[in-house]
Amino acid sequence: MNFGVDYYPEHWPEDRWSKDAKLMEEAKFDTVRLAEFAWSKIEGTEGEIDFTWLDRAIETLANRNLDIVLGTPTAAPPPWLTEKHPEVLAVNEDKEVVKPGHRRHYCVNSKVYRDYTKAIVSEMAEKYGEDERVIGWQTDNELGHPVCYCDDCRTKFHAWLRDKYEDIDELNNRWGTTFWSHEYTEWSQIPLPNDNPRKGPNPSLHLDYKRFFSQSTVGYNKFQVDILQDETENQWVCHNFMPHFPNFDHFEMAQDLDLATWDHYPTEIRESYKEVSAGHDLTYGVKDKPFWVMEEQCSYLTRDDLTPAPRPGETRMWTYQSIAHGADGIIYFRWRPCRFGDEQFHGGVLQHDGSRESPGYQEVKSVGNELAEVGTEIDGTVVEADVGIYYSFEQNWSMDTYRFHSPIDYEDEIASYYNALFAANVNVKFVSRNSDLNGLDLLIVPVLPMVDEFLQDKFESFVKEGGKLVGTFRTGIKDFDNHVTDKTFPGRLSELFGISIREFTPVKDKPEVTLSGLQDEGKSYTAKDWVDCIDPGEAEPLAKYDQGWPGDRGYAGVTRNNHDDGAAYYVGLSGEADLYRDLVSYLLKEAGIEPILTGDENLEVRKRTEPETGKELVFVVNHSSSQKSVQLPGKLTDVLTEKEKSGTTTLEPFGVLILRQK
Ligand code: GLA
Ligand code: ZN
Repeated sequence: MNFGVDYYPEHWPEDRWSKDAKLMEEAKFDTVRLAEFAWSKIEGTEGEIDFTWLDRAIETLANRNLDIVLGTPTAAPPPWLTEKHPEVLAVNEDKEVVKPGHRRHYCVNSKVYRDYTKAIVSEMAEKYGEDERVIGWQTDNELGHPVCYCDDCRTKFHAWLRDKYEDIDELNNRWGTTFWSHEYTEWSQIPLPNDNPRKGPNPSLHLDYKRFFSQSTVGYNKFQVDILQDETENQWVCHNFMPHFPNFDHFEMAQDLDLATWDHYPTEIRESYKEVSAGHDLTYGVKDKPFWVMEEQCSYLTRDDLTPAPRPGETRMWTYQSIAHGADGIIYFRWRPCRFGDEQFHGGVLQHDGSRESPGYQEVKSVGNELAEVGTEIDGTVVEADVGIYYSFEQNWSMDTYRFHSPIDYEDEIASYYNALFAANVNVKFVSRNSDLNGLDLLIVPVLPMVDEFLQDKFESFVKEGGKLVGTFRTGIKDFDNHVTDKTFPGRLSELFGISIREFTPVKDKPEVTLSGLQDEGKSYTAKDWVDCIDPGEAEPLAKYDQGWPGDRGYAGVTRNNHDDGAAYYVGLSGEADLYRDLVSYLLKEAGIEPILTGDENLEVRKRTEPETGKELVFVVNHSSSQKSVQLPGKLTDVLTEKEKSGTTTLEPFGVLILRQK
């Protein structure tokens, strides 16, 4: 385990640094991230590099046994750069130049910006690349926005298209440009998606721009990773993701990194901590490996307004929640709130006064003391899951390129299944196109519009090998050019599911459609957003619509198609939480998956496993400000207290248990 804090020595008088380092050591911190916005401090004017202050900061911290993670400062280009080269500034969707004065105002495709990136990253890597006090690097900071539409992007997009299609007629064909007379005769005629004020209308062009911009972002990150890997020794490279930033494929970027990390700010979405858990699982999933939380919330946040301060014990609970999901590093954001700047009231471990009396400091210090005891117990454990959710940035883009699918929202549909699995107390793994599906018994694939031969084979083999696969409405309706299939829906997956979709309808207000028959004949569920009318063909109808015209025509809403030990389930509708809860409980039973433990609502239960020995650590996390209880099967040891627990066990508000199972 690594345990530490994000620190900005450049914001504080130097004579304070040694006190900070001492307090960090006392809190049992061992790691500090530095410098990710410090470009103007390192290079005050072009070419004048000054590392002396950073040397002294690193020295001060290292004297207290703190390891350093260095951020490359490219998320915050200094004024001398943007004044000399305004062409590096991004252009937003409304065609306005993104002005300096904040951060993230540059374009990842700017050739000039890449030259400056190369210079600053190389300077830092040459200076610290063999410094043993530096253990790793973070590229930039939270990549993924703004999506840019500048002249450099336009030129590069045209080159990208040329590379992809080679021949303009091939592009015309694959984009369907005969529609509304869009046939191009020159690459230069191809517009950017925001050139048309009506935001359209060619879905293939839209999707290609999203792919292009994703690859540009992934490429910009790789550009930095390559420099760092060339110039450093025994130091890893990571990036701090925001897993739900939709503008680049995180699975792809992760291939270039040694470590995935993310920034965990639960109070932004306090009412739905399940979504926060999904962020952990997605960050685990992108490399299928333990990750770090590079910014762990420990105080109030500056968002549109200040978010509420964490309640006593809540920061500790979030820390263990992160660890439960596979975090091997916890770095709190930030050490001390800054007295100036945009985030002057963004809280930290300390308060503005820098005093050790800060309750936040006292709380993380007690976590530091606990982790000093139990960290070794957690080291080497990983997250194994029997259930997977297929998550694809590209499929989400496909949905997004065509506004007529509303009211379906890709993320919401994923969340509906995730939340039901969360409540069922099972580990969940996010997988994508290139992930290994071995080890999963149940794979839920919500809303998969585009299917090609590769995905068809992948899912067919999964079922053939005994897996239970779940697909939903809007699956198999398109190819990867974003064209609608000419086969009966669900297109390439019709045989696997054994069904035909004869009709479909968005469900807005009317007609009301209900479904019944799932497990319990008495229960009825209301369809929300979407209804696929399933002709079950060779599949078995598990539930049928019983109201509205889909009911009158006798269509099925949920089906199962058995393939020896495997099965392919199709869910034709979206609904309210009760539908997902009952579906998931049925599917878990079908796949023979048991909950890790059972307990009250608002408790989160997760498990980490040591692969060699099979040792299991069960984490129980109370997200609520009231007592909750959990049922334990037999005697278990709580490694935080070394006390034995059994039967019905109570957790205090925001309490945590870590139970050793084997
Ligand atoms: C992000 C950034 C940080 C900081 C925090 C504030 O995650 O990476 O620099 O702005 O938000 O919550
Ligand atoms: Zn651009």
